[in-house]
Amino acid sequence: MRQDRAMIGSKMNEALNAQIGREFGASYQYYALAAWFEEQGLPGFAKFFLRQGQEENEHALKIVHYLGEVGGHVVLPAQPQPKSTYESALAAIESFLAAEQEVTRAIYELVDLATAEKDHSAFEFLQWYVSEQREEVASATGLLDRARRFGEERVVLLDSTLS
Ligand code: FEO
Repeated sequence: MRQDRAMIGSKMNEALNAQIGREFGASYQYYALAAWFEEQGLPGFAKFFLRQGQEENEHALKIVHYLGEVGGHVVLPAQPQPKSTYESALAAIESFLAAEQEVTRAIYELVDLATAEKDHSAFEFLQWYVSEQREEVASATGLLDRARRFGEERVVLLDSTLS
């Protein structure tokens, strides 16, 4: 961290580095989901998760840029290997919702930390993530609801509506 002009405390800096890891982790997981759906002959879901993976990359890089702006220091966390097989399309979509709920909890903790540290800049920056998570949890919930209504046997019909 460039101490001479840092506008961020070490605790917030570390927590944001951890969030970069979560966003890249989600990206990696969604690319793995895209690959799995491709293997299942469900190209609509594959494209959907490819796009989600790209979005998560952008979320991670947005934090990298923020740390640069406030004179912080970026340390990219190591990534575990993402899950590569699922019992069913429904189970795969459930994992998408669970991942987004987990990221949402992490974002809320970051907002709590920004408040505790009186880091108004981080607080303002994180509000974008709060609304983004609201949209993503709603999107994952909607997709899961539709998939459940179609059922595993007819999920291919839902696939054709995704691109
Ligand atoms: Fe950037 Fe969907 O978490």
